[in-house]
Amino acid sequence: MAQEDIFKKLVAHCKEYGYVFQSSEIYDGLGAVYDYGQNGVELKNNIKKYWWDSMVLLHENVVGLDSAIFMHPTIWKASGHVDAFNDPLIDNKDSKKRYRADVLIEDQLGKYEEKMNKEVAKAEKRFGDSFDEKQFRETNPRVIANQEKWNTLHQRFSDALNAGDLAELKQIIEDEGIVCPLSGSRNWTDVRQFNLMFSTEMGSTAEGAAKIYLRPETAQGIFVNYLNVQKTGRMKIPFGIAQIGKAFRNEIVARQFIFRMREFEQMEMQYFVKPGTELDWFDKWKETRISWHRALGFGDENYRFHVHEKLAHYANAAVDVEYKFPFGFKEVEGIHSRTDFDLSQHQKFSGKKIQYYDPELGESYVPYVVETSIGVDRMFLQVVAASYCEEELESSNGQKDTRVVMKLPAVLAPVKLAVMPLVKKDGLPEKAREIIDELKFDFNCQYDEKDSIGKRYRRQDAIGTPFCVTVDHQSLEDQTVTIRYRDTMEQDRVAITELKSIIAEQVSFKELFAKLK
Ligand code: GAP
Repeated sequence: MAQEDIFKKLVAHCKEYGYVFQSSEIYDGLGAVYDYGQNGVELKNNIKKYWWDSMVLLHENVVGLDSAIFMHPTIWKASGHVDAFNDPLIDNKDSKKRYRADVLIEDQLGKYEEKMNKEVAKAEKRFGDSFDEKQFRETNPRVIANQEKWNTLHQRFSDALNAGDLAELKQIIEDEGIVCPLSGSRNWTDVRQFNLMFSTEMGSTAEGAAKIYLRPETAQGIFVNYLNVQKTGRMKIPFGIAQIGKAFRNEIVARQFIFRMREFEQMEMQYFVKPGTELDWFDKWKETRISWHRALGFGDENYRFHVHEKLAHYANAAVDVEYKFPFGFKEVEGIHSRTDFDLSQHQKFSGKKIQYYDPELGESYVPYVVETSIGVDRMFLQVVAASYCEEELESSNGQKDTRVVMKLPAVLAPVKLAVMPLVKKDGLPEKAREIIDELKFDFNCQYDEKDSIGKRYRRQDAIGTPFCVTVDHQSLEDQTVTIRYRDTMEQDRVAITELKSIIAEQVSFKELFAKLK
């Protein structure tokens, strides 16, 4: 099945099984804003716990913070967001639709890639096992022509972005003959910059309301609390401050479900280091973070680093962790060496000394910062995309059957076990409830008595519940139950008293942490 179709099915599945809903759906929805349902919120909380504990519990020099979303407006002037947190936008005069100029050009690059990939796929089918993709790409005239077009466009695009040349971006759109997907016309306005921050007002108008911003990243809340945490926590450099919280960006092109949202959540950690040591720490955090992703078992080949060639003016190294989503490799996390830019700017704009007295050196300096920044929602999308499976099964009567199963890592699964009485009588429901009462303080349990056992298994597979426990008449006699494993569908007869340890071993964060380097 085409990856695009799988993605559509995944989005529908997330809605049907209480993972993700469109915000304000009964009012026809609000663009690029989503709500997490009864299963989504549990999965999201488990992802956050995995990140938080791996930062704060596993590193004795990393501590947490929960700063407010509203902050003094000058913070965003100091950080550069008021002046430079922009996207280049262009409008189509016929459809009146607004686009990001850079995204229109990226899509055009994608079209050249698609053409090349189609040629490759066709040839692969024709030549079978003897197909040499590298040789084909180097010799096929159609692939070579498209590769040349791609190279020329890519170079022009990078130069225009680096120079901040908006007129050149428009010229590229015109030269490439890019049309509006809605009107099909090339009737474009000029390209202009658009700030991504949402603003609101604090205080009544009579008092003179102040314009404040909804934070576009959680990082600045950490920077402005650097002194508070360092002093009150008696922190010695190097040390880190971790924070999870909402961020807001007025994204114009919001696509791919929860990949690009207007309200989203970030998990960010700023690591304060001695100047000159930042690139060593950058390398260390790169390894720590990729190991965190890989420990979930989604396949090492599905991750790659994308090294930034063009660095933001404040950074001296930057890399993205990319995951292979159904729509291609895309950024999930950014790791940036941000130098002393942010702290120095806040020192300048606030007039307060923001430094660290290093007892070993006997001098004070503004610390350098290495940042790790991951979107909770993108991580959520990674987890559900990696876990969604459609499987063909051989049923007992020899006929083909299919099941949809979310093979979520058990430790992240929203519901850990479902307890099901075989029938709704003879004391089986009471026994099932007794088991839940015993286990509910350790695991998120679900009681399920409706429909046949087969249907109940399918329902739990679709949610991603790793264990189903069935209570039957024998359970009343010998205190045993059947435990069914989601991924293998195998079943074991076990003593009720064993359930806790069997499940605990599989859903333990400790086991997951043991895999981290
Ligand atoms: N403090 C650095 C920072 O905010 P970023 O690359 O702009 O850097 C970090 O964002 C991460 O936040 C991204 O890697 C992504 O996972 C997530 N993110 C950014 N914009 C997002 C959006 N509109 N919707 C969902 N997640 C987003």
